[in-house]
Amino acid sequence: DWKMQDVLEEEIRVINGMVGSDEHVICALSGGVDSTVAATLIHKAIGDRLHCVFVDNGLLRYKERERVMSTFERDLHLPVTCIDASEQFLSKLKGVKDPEMKRKIIGREFIAIFDDFAHELEQKLGKRPTFLVQGTLYPDVIESCPPPGSGRTHSHTIKSHHNVGGLPKDMKLKLIEPLKLLFKDEVRTLGSILNVPDSFLKRHPFPGPGLAVRVLGDVTEGNALEILRQVDEIFIQSIRDAGLYDSIWQAFAVFLPVQSVGVQGDQRTHSHVVVLRAITSEDGMTADWYYFDQKFLVDVVRKICNNVRGVNRVCQDITSKPPATVEWE
Ligand code: XMP
Repeated sequence: DWKMQDVLEEEIRVINGMVGSDEHVICALSGGVDSTVAATLIHKAIGDRLHCVFVDNGLLRYKERERVMSTFERDLHLPVTCIDASEQFLSKLKGVKDPEMKRKIIGREFIAIFDDFAHELEQKLGKRPTFLVQGTLYPDVIESCPPPGSGRTHSHTIKSHHNVGGLPKDMKLKLIEPLKLLFKDEVRTLGSILNVPDSFLKRHPFPGPGLAVRVLGDVTEGNALEILRQVDEIFIQSIRDAGLYDSIWQAFAVFLPVQSVGVQGDQRTHSHVVVLRAITSEDGMTADWYYFDQKFLVDVVRKICNNVRGVNRVCQDITSKPPATVEWE
């Protein structure tokens, strides 16, 4: 792909121009395509002056930390420090129901952790890292900060994506956003030029605030996160087994903080409702819901109800974007 080969060379020039020859860069890896490609790109440009960090915020999917860490180390040879900050995040989110507030708290915690990591790195290197890499894409930029003349103003901002703007004034790290002019498919092409494994490039997008935007309301209530992880894993595994993973832009489960009446055996149950959402999309800005065949849905619902304690009802979200967004919060 000539165009992306040019983009790659231009990016490397820009990165080397921005980052002085003895400056150090921090990159937060989320386990998604964007931050992985961004890190690989920066690594190619500046080598070992890149320092990656992976934060477990307690809002990751089933076994995600183990899975992504092994891929970073085994396949990509990226130097990554793994920080378990689950308790820190979840204690700050306790009792918080407002979606924007949840996003803001998570964004703030991420920044605080990066800042700490930078301080520790400073001790180790004897000098302070100066840059922070973010895998922001073009659609994130236009949704959070619409271009002039688009007819959308800041008051129309749809959701405060934690990874765009909003950095505190005392933040001592400068931002590098090497993907900010690219759409998702371009990032994947760039990644394949950079030899990022296919399994990584084809991963569905996952939001920075993680499962917090998929547990409606207070994420710490009951065992919502645990239930959601199990349902999500069954859904995604079924999609993979059916060979549908690559035809779907994004698929996930949502946990609703309501209970419905059901019956299992002779027992009346009063358990949670979960929602399955799968969409097709070009760039995440608009989306259509994905049409599963009946047998697939029957099997998934049976597996979920038989295997996940605390769930007695499964719904499918068949709303496109617009009017709905992809995530529920
Ligand atoms: P929405 O829900 O805004 O999602 O229609 C569009 C795409 O963006 C992802 N998304 C996020 N990604 N930080 C991210 O990095 C976020 O805060 C965030 N919120 C939504 C979403 O998963 C979908 O792919």
